[in-house]
Amino acid sequence: MILTTCTQKIDDPVKGDMTTFIDGLMKRMTLQEKIGQLNLPGSGDIITGQTSNSDIGKRIKDGQVGGLLNIKSVDKIRDVQKVAVEESRLGIPLIFGMDVIHGYQTTFPIPLGLASSFDMALIEQSARVAAVEASADGICWAFSPMVDIARDPRWGRIAEGAGEDPYLGSRVAEAYVRGYQGDDLAKNNTILACVKHYALYGAAEAGRDYNTTDMSRIRMFNEYLPPYHAAVKAGVGSVMTSFNEVDGIPATGNRWLMTEVLRDQWDFNGFVVTDYTAINEMIAHGMGDLQTVSALALKAGVDMDMIGEGFLTTLEQSLKEGKITQAGIDQACRRILEAKYKLGLFEDPYRYCDTSRPGTDIATGEHNRIARETAAQTFVLLKNEDQLLPLNDKGRIALVGPLADSRDNMAGMWSVAVDHDESVTVLEGFKEAVGDRAGILYAKGSNIVDDKDLDSWISTWGRPTMDTVRTAGELRKEAVAVASKCDVIVAVMGEAAEMSGESSCRSDISLPGSQRQLLEALLETGKPVVLVLFTGRPLTLTWEQKHIPAILNVWFGGTQAGNAIADVIFGKVNPSGKLPVTFPQQVGQIPLYYNHKSTGRPLEEGDWYQKYRSNYLDVTNDPLYPFGFGLSFTRFGYGDLVLDKTRLTGEQTLTASIEVTNTGAIDGAEIVQLYIRDLVGSITRPVKELKGFQKVFIKAGETRTVSFTITPEDLKFYNYNLVYDWEPGEFVIMVGGNSRDVESASIIWEK
Ligand code: BGC
Repeated sequence: MILTTCTQKIDDPVKGDMTTFIDGLMKRMTLQEKIGQLNLPGSGDIITGQTSNSDIGKRIKDGQVGGLLNIKSVDKIRDVQKVAVEESRLGIPLIFGMDVIHGYQTTFPIPLGLASSFDMALIEQSARVAAVEASADGICWAFSPMVDIARDPRWGRIAEGAGEDPYLGSRVAEAYVRGYQGDDLAKNNTILACVKHYALYGAAEAGRDYNTTDMSRIRMFNEYLPPYHAAVKAGVGSVMTSFNEVDGIPATGNRWLMTEVLRDQWDFNGFVVTDYTAINEMIAHGMGDLQTVSALALKAGVDMDMIGEGFLTTLEQSLKEGKITQAGIDQACRRILEAKYKLGLFEDPYRYCDTSRPGTDIATGEHNRIARETAAQTFVLLKNEDQLLPLNDKGRIALVGPLADSRDNMAGMWSVAVDHDESVTVLEGFKEAVGDRAGILYAKGSNIVDDKDLDSWISTWGRPTMDTVRTAGELRKEAVAVASKCDVIVAVMGEAAEMSGESSCRSDISLPGSQRQLLEALLETGKPVVLVLFTGRPLTLTWEQKHIPAILNVWFGGTQAGNAIADVIFGKVNPSGKLPVTFPQQVGQIPLYYNHKSTGRPLEEGDWYQKYRSNYLDVTNDPLYPFGFGLSFTRFGYGDLVLDKTRLTGEQTLTASIEVTNTGAIDGAEIVQLYIRDLVGSITRPVKELKGFQKVFIKAGETRTVSFTITPEDLKFYNYNLVYDWEPGEFVIMVGGNSRDVESASIIWEK
């Protein structure tokens, strides 16, 4: 339905095509109104940076606002849209964006967790559910997917992406875009996706947020840019710039990045929004005053200015002074109007404002069911000595640890629309799972951290974690007493939700001290200990791997985490997650990733140290857990790798097959991974690269043959001249259950 007032203002979009409609509209827009479209202030509802905006209502009426950021609830959004449509001169609808990162109110596992499922249908479905819920609450634009490749677990935002691998990252990026945008953006339950943070944000030096990045173009194109490119190819409607510099120029002012690569090479035809105040931050980067950096951003290819109002307050002056062109402003304005058109907002500005939808579409039983099933697929079993897991639901179980009954920490970082009251704790999940068949005895046992300052820094969103009444010793003593009465101990420990995510970097990525002490005390009881680990990043778990018999890494599983954890611990679901990122033994090994280069002095496999080889005196080069690693309650045996050819020419295809047998007694899923090594190249090539994966369900005792089809496309890389092609020669084909343990065979592929 189109409001009468609205139709009087803007022509009926149904009458013409998009270009004709926008041409007509732009002819009637003043310069100020065009610049207004480029302005994206924050609502003040949810503030995710240091600055917020004021006087929004007046600005909307004056045509100075193109969209709003992080405003929550359909009623509020409808009211604000009404102001834009009825009280601004032209009645152009606003676009409403939000950090819908891993679900909306129904919260899914954090993205690093979702990537561990290696299940693209599941990830797409989680984005679909998020889109349905967000659009029911008035949101038509999600600031997701975040696809920054990250190889430094000190960086808190590693939690928001898909980990270290460009191939996996690309598949994940596509899945999110499909999930959010669906097949028709104009439907009222599909929303515009925004791939971020373009580009290289995950390569911040020393893992410190917002820090400098610097890398060769070869590395960019082969390792860091592919996921953004994949999102563009999947049709993502918008791109967000990153805070960092790229090749000496901040991304937000980098024309090479924003125009030459993104638009000219990749044919991106959506719009580019800055990250939060990223234009203004170019002043601190040392690129000039606000007018200068705003002009720089527009000329680089930025269309929309998030929060900073640099465009709003300086572009007119820059135009007068000839520093930017009218065509530059028109182009940015057009791109934003096009997005609104594609979302169907000109046809019906209230398309996403159906106030009856929240009641039927948000946090539904079906969404909860999907969230629970999804979460269980993301957990990674890191150790399971003597098949300690799954536990029987009998006897007495001690449930101990600061995350065992911590509702606010279940959803994980960046869950701005979550209702924490709906989150299921591990304690609740366990009680529900065992009913009256077993006793669950709970004790907190320790704080997450014992430092008051740190506790306040990780409680920005109002989730304090510290017990201010009991001392660490008292908490521990109580837990040991509880544990001593039980048959088995489940220790639920790790990071608080806000210890990862934005501005949450750590230089020491081990389990915080008081939790480690608690673990030691629990081990002393002599009872078997299971560690259920919450984390937003790889942690250094060398001590835990040595001493704790069973470790289940659950990341942050979302609102249904408690139920999903119980499903796995008690064997209703057999875990199948695999790590999308390497876990180092020690922080000093970072960056540590499986797809590294050989160097001229590689260490021989299995060795610790050789003089004049690339190694350390005090730690081996090995990770604690390699990329792709994850156990199951059953075991999978791999047969020999069978290739249908050993010599190929040109566009032929190769089939690599392997028999995988479930040799245990429990049905389960295995993620079979394909890696390729290009032995000789015109530039140095990684020691292996993921090129495919399949999640296969295999019944106990059964064997499945898993086949991969390999084409020259899988051999391509960007060469020294940044030409994307493959080079003939010898290749090693590897298939296995993780990046370390593989069956391999060689082939020759001629051009
Ligand atoms: C983050 C973005 C986010 C934006 C809007 C920034 O601080 O870097 O990822 O989308 O805020 O909330």
